[in-house]
Parts: sequence; C-alpha cells; structure tokens
Amino acid sequence: MTIDLHNTDCEKFMATLPMGHFDLTIADPPYGIGRDWERRNKASRRFSETYDNTERPSPEVFDEIIRVSKHWIVWGWNYFTDILPPTNYLVVWDKMSNCNQTFRYSKAEIAGTDIKIPCNLVSIPWDGYRMGEETGKKKIHPHQKPVALYRWLLETYGRRARRIFDPFAGSGSLAVACRQTGKDYVGCEIDPAFYKAAHSRIFDTPPPQPLEEFLPLMPKGD
Ligand SMILES: C[S@@+](CC[C@H](N)C(=O)[O-])C[C@H]1O[C@@H](n2cnc3c(N)ncnc32)[C@H](O)[C@@H]1O
Repeated sequence: MTIDLHNTDCEKFMATLPMGHFDLTIADPPYGIGRDWERRNKASRRFSETYDNTERPSPEVFDEIIRVSKHWIVWGWNYFTDILPPTNYLVVWDKMSNCNQTFRYSKAEIAGTDIKIPCNLVSIPWDGYRMGEETGKKKIHPHQKPVALYRWLLETYGRRARRIFDPFAGSGSLAVACRQTGKDYVGCEIDPAFYKAAHSRIFDTPPPQPLEEFLPLMPKGD
C-alpha cells in the first residue's frame, strides 16, 4: 500500500499521466459557491486564508479525470449537470442531521458515477456539531467529508479497485480511508495550508483495520 499526497494543481498533475492510470477516482471538486457559503459560515476563514471556492473546475478538468480513470465518482453532481452527462447512477449521502426545518446546512449531498449501480443511498451522521464516529476530533477543512463515507464508497464501488485517485484532497479523508483499507492512494491538494494539515492527519492515522466489521451491507459494484 502506498499513500502519495502532492501539493499541486490536479490538472497539471493529470496531464503527465496515461489513460486509465487509476482504477477509481473519487473527486470532490470545489463547487464554486464560495461567496454565498462564506456569507453564511463566518468561521470558514479559520481553516485557510488562501482557500477560494468561487470557481468550479473547467470542463477540461473533468475530461482529464475521466481520461485517467477506469471508473469515477464525482461529488457535488448537482453543481456540474451542465458539464457531466445525465445519469441515474447517483449516490445520495444522507447526513442524518436530525434537525428541524430551519437547519441551514444541507441534509444530503449527491455524487454521480459511471459505475452502474442505480441511485444509491447511504446514511452516515455528519454535521457541523455532530460528526458521527469522528466526534471529538476537530475538522481541519470547511468541506471535510467523513472517513466512514469514503470507506463505504470504497467497499461498495471500489472493492476490486487497487489504485485510487483524489484530485481535490482537502482534509485527506479519502487518504485516511485508503490507508485503513489497504488501497494505494494518490491525491492532489493545491492549497498549501490544507496540504500541510492533511499530510499530518493522514500519517497520524492508526494502521489498517478489517473492513467487514465496520461497513453496512450494500450491493457490490466493481
Ligand atoms: C470540496 S474540497 C474537498 C474536501 C475533501 N473531500 C475532504 O473530505 O476534506 C475541494 C478541495 O480542492 C482543492 N482544490 C481546488 N482546486 C484544485 C486543483 N486545481 N488542484 C488540486 N486541488 C484543488 C481546494 O483547495 C479544496 O481543498
């Protein structure tokens, strides 16, 4: 197992790679909603002074992701429907926010994939205050996703995938999941502050644990 995190622009990085280099890419791109999000989340600047989530990746970046990957999953599907093809191969992550209707954060997020599992649903608790199994640990990124979510994706969509790519690594949650499950991981993070924080987090993680005792029963993809 190798874990390789680069402080670089994923577009430049992918340009150096051959077609189908990775078995599975799990991308969580910036959604381009930075200004609106920051207005509602005054604390977001404490994570990084330089992070700017005001632009989406260009269509060429998505073309590159598809070129270098045998299979792919892209989070924030609802923000990229003008770039990526219509599909029913979706993943809905229910954050189990358990809050009343005035709760101002999303209660779910959506990913699209080329793996032919019809619209799928997973419930993993996560919100600003109640971070499920990772309760008690401080978030290091404003858009950090739970390690449990990535472990579920790896088990359900990437059981046979060996080489995983994470073009927008953020806090490194996918790297932690790969390390715990014995997958080879390559990630890119452009922001130096997030890169540094993710690097420490990944290599502070406990050694691999068996998957079976952790994951819910779900249909198996490839
Ligand atoms: C939505 S966040 C990812 C969060 C991540 N899934 C997690 O669990 O922490 C997107 C990340 O992509 C990074 N980013 C934006 N453009 C990039 C690029 N061209 N190359 C590499 N990283 C980029 C941002 O700095 C940000 O940390």
